[in-house]
Amino acid sequence: MKTRITELLGIRHPIMQGGMHYVGFAELAAAVSNAGGLGVITGLTQKTPELLAKEIARCHDMTDQPFGVNLTFLPAFTSPPYPEYIQAIIEGGVKVVETAGRSPQAYMETFKSAGIKVIHKCTSVRHALKAEQIGCDAVSVDGFECGGHPGEDDVPNFILLPLAAEKLTIPFLASGGMADGRSLVAALAMGADGINMGTRFIATQEAPVHAKVKQAIVNATELDTTLIMRAINNTERVMVNQGVKKLQAIEKEKGEALDIKDIIEQVAGIYPKVMIDGDVESGAWSCGMVAGLIHDVPTCQALIDRIMLQAEQLIRQRLVLALN
Ligand SMILES: Cc1cc2nc3c(=O)[nH]c(=O)nc-3n(C[C@H](O)[C@H](O)[C@H](O)COP(=O)(O)O)c2cc1C
Repeated sequence: MKTRITELLGIRHPIMQGGMHYVGFAELAAAVSNAGGLGVITGLTQKTPELLAKEIARCHDMTDQPFGVNLTFLPAFTSPPYPEYIQAIIEGGVKVVETAGRSPQAYMETFKSAGIKVIHKCTSVRHALKAEQIGCDAVSVDGFECGGHPGEDDVPNFILLPLAAEKLTIPFLASGGMADGRSLVAALAMGADGINMGTRFIATQEAPVHAKVKQAIVNATELDTTLIMRAINNTERVMVNQGVKKLQAIEKEKGEALDIKDIIEQVAGIYPKVMIDGDVESGAWSCGMVAGLIHDVPTCQALIDRIMLQAEQLIRQRLVLALN
């Protein structure tokens, strides 16, 4: 399948794997890229720019296909040395960066002069337009259903994607709630040029996370995620678990007076506990509503092949036949 996204990124299928903290290691990024999508290493999971450089080198050893690095500009407890991370990306020969959170404006010139394509992830049309205006090559539009940070507008993809198509000139990916060939065809119908998936890629053979995380996603229904941190304007969609229930009890008690310090135990340092140790009940970890559509743990190759086959069948059979 050829779209503006496959052309822009030099990939075979219009499917991208979004950056995911403690999930987006070289193993997953390489597997997605080898299967014809765009795999992405999560920059800040690597504790230093030197470690990111090593992770990029490991990924080059596992694939000769293009892959990207995610750089998240989120309110962090301590601000990472972004220019040095960017230097590691440039020196590592990576040609695609997925930015998220705050605007990448301050670094656009550096990215552009290194020939790097920038895909900014946004949760609203106004932020997508701003990204277009500052020179991003594409955007990833994250709907309310997404795992991670859906923003504060609560607009689901059935509204957000057609609106993005009406307003944007640059290519865009539909992100949030994407799982299969039906998602891809629907995204294309709404004007997107491809899909970005997070949660779906965690439940794959190559995702280097504890088997209990994959099983928790397979077991979850569409009702098993919830929103946290709304009172501090840092809303996150996470899997419901014991730690999150505790966190939400604190949120209820504190109301609008909630401070990040009140819930630090349930949000700080949780990812290694969950993703490496398999302690899936320990606290907040991002997960999309799409978990309800995930029933297995295939290889990335099998998953992407299946998505492309289902999309093609839907277009050639269901959609074309509907015209008769
Ligand atoms: C466990 C997990 C961790 C994530 N970490 C990040 C991150 O560090 N930076 C980022 O930009 N997005 C992050 N995301 C968001 C994904 O890149 C992607 O936008 C989102 O998962 C799409 O929604 P979906 O899960 O419904 O596919 C994360 C998502 C998950 C599920």
